[in-house]
Amino acid sequence: MTRPLRLGVNIDHVATIRNARGGMHPDPVRAAKLAEECGADGITAHLREDRRHISDEDITRLVNTINIPLNFEMAATREMLEIALRHTPHAACIVPEKRQERTTEGGLDAVGGHDHLAPFINDLGKSGIRVSLFVEPNRDQLNAAKSLGAPVVELHVGAYCDSSGNEQERQFQRIVDAARYADEIGLECHAGHGLTYETVSPIAAIPSIVELNIGHFLIGEAIYVGLEESIKRMRQIMTEAREGASGLTE
Ligand code: PXP
Repeated sequence: MTRPLRLGVNIDHVATIRNARGGMHPDPVRAAKLAEECGADGITAHLREDRRHISDEDITRLVNTINIPLNFEMAATREMLEIALRHTPHAACIVPEKRQERTTEGGLDAVGGHDHLAPFINDLGKSGIRVSLFVEPNRDQLNAAKSLGAPVVELHVGAYCDSSGNEQERQFQRIVDAARYADEIGLECHAGHGLTYETVSPIAAIPSIVELNIGHFLIGEAIYVGLEESIKRMRQIMTEAREGASGLTE
């Protein structure tokens, strides 16, 4: 039976635009409510150490306002852990974070960072927060996530989204293999980073992936068609790809 595919809308870049002028507009919490009204299954927000987009106050307001799950993206730092434990969002996705990077450029090193990550995963899990690790699509990372006791992995699909031709096909196969392997070893599998109307269909058709987190493209596209329309169109493409794939074996 086909598993449902959830859409998590990442609202970070509404805050990026707001922060360009330092005022209140546009409000990422209003965008989150709108996303909720037009069918998002969850909201994702990344509170970065440098607060370049989402602010502490945004997180507080999101927790108090939205009625769908909040996926709190965080680096594995004591400061972020304390914030997560204070708000107890539905989920926390642990991501790597470098101050100089423009965006989350690669996955977390769950192999090399095993000992550093273990207490974070433990403390978040004990508070009832569903922990996911944002990792590259490879087996070593998935095995490490499993041994750390994380119930969920989110596969970084940026290399697939940013490539073309044979290289894109190669990157896609890595994702297919990793998603299948995650399922085999009992990890819930999500995917995100860089997805667009063009790149989303093959990923949405992978049966063991149950959630996609998408932000930058939806917010950018909203400039032309509005946020409601961009989310609805993305949702429709995801649904069609999923339904088209049902009946195929993985
Ligand atoms: N998932 C994770 C873990 C992310 O860090 C991000 C943002 O970098 C996304 C999904 C969304 O990526 P994008 O904004 O490129 O759609």
